[in-house]
Amino acid sequence: MLKFKPRSGLEQIEEYKVATVPDADIIVNANETNWPLAPSAVNKIKEQLDNFAFNRYPPMHAESMCQILAQGLRVDPDTVILGNGSSELLEKACYAFGGVGRKIAFPYPSFSMYQEYAQLADSIPAPYPLTKDGYVDGEAVIEFCRKEKPALLIICNPNNPTGNYTPLAVMEKILANVECPVIMDEAYMEFVDPEDKLGRFSTLSLLNEYDNFLCFRTFSKAYGLAGLRVGYGTGSPVLIKVMQKVLLPYHVNAFSLLAAQIVYQEPELLKSRVSMIIDERNKMNKALTELGFRLYPSSTNFIMFLPSEELAFSLAKYGIRQGYKLEGGNEVMAGAVVFSQLLGAKILVRDFTRHPALPGAIRLSLGTADENEKIAALLKEICTSAREA
Ligand SMILES: Cc1ncc(COP(=O)(O)O)c(C=O)c1O
Repeated sequence: MLKFKPRSGLEQIEEYKVATVPDADIIVNANETNWPLAPSAVNKIKEQLDNFAFNRYPPMHAESMCQILAQGLRVDPDTVILGNGSSELLEKACYAFGGVGRKIAFPYPSFSMYQEYAQLADSIPAPYPLTKDGYVDGEAVIEFCRKEKPALLIICNPNNPTGNYTPLAVMEKILANVECPVIMDEAYMEFVDPEDKLGRFSTLSLLNEYDNFLCFRTFSKAYGLAGLRVGYGTGSPVLIKVMQKVLLPYHVNAFSLLAAQIVYQEPELLKSRVSMIIDERNKMNKALTELGFRLYPSSTNFIMFLPSEELAFSLAKYGIRQGYKLEGGNEVMAGAVVFSQLLGAKILVRDFTRHPALPGAIRLSLGTADENEKIAALLKEICTSAREA
């Protein structure tokens, strides 16, 4: 019998799992882009393949990509870092700034991995609440940091899974009033405005004014490269230097770097894809509201929605009549009915119905127009059947 004991603390960490079906027709559960990469970008990648150095390690710290990003961000290339997805940067930041007995503060409800990365880095997770509508409350965060004295503060703006964008002025107030390093996770910022690299929305515009923060972005969402795992970060030179110590050499593979480089240099593709997604978001917002769902205000490529009281009652009653094994309040039961019916139609959304802070909630990434129409039509059918039952 094999005897072993994993590192202490791991027993408190759950393996990351999401409900899935292998043969889903419509996959809208992971905030990906549902369009394939544009043919122009695919062709450019193909052109490079014949002479591609598959046998060589990539540049040690993705130096050429750092140069390209630095030009776009108008920062010094030494202050740009790449990651195997922004996940790697978040995880490594917890290693770099957390540690035994030190607190890492992050929003709740938000990206569930913050807590896991904090725990993996032997740190104490310190969740701070968002407003009831899902926004970052600047004053409350500052007060939280004053009291809890975290070694690292993470902010997710726009926030996943609620989708809210909190204005730049609030972020600036936090940066000006907290003592610890701050990570601005802007994984979805392109959906607020794809052209706003240095403008009114992103904290990238504050880089020269505050030196206590890092800003992380990703190629997985608006750029449509989730499969290649590329994220990037920039920020205060001192903090970037710390990050460089914890990042492994050769940590982003050469093929991913090639594709990211090509895609980054086609800003028109990004703009048109984002504006298509925003149109789809507007249509879906309208459809869901008309059906009687409550929505968090989304500035992202996904929408978080919950049944209103009246709809929750009808859906829960309908679910019980249909023979579903349901537990919890009406909202939770209603969410479970909607999730199961969608799954039955091979539509995979993200189930937050049992999340303690989001009872009954479902998150849906915006797919293609055709996919979104099918989803809206099915939701209408479900809600109509429930109300008529
Ligand atoms: C808020 C947020 N940050 C970071 C990530 C990590 O993205 P990636 O590792 O694909 O860059 C995600 C992924 O869903 C996310 O929602």
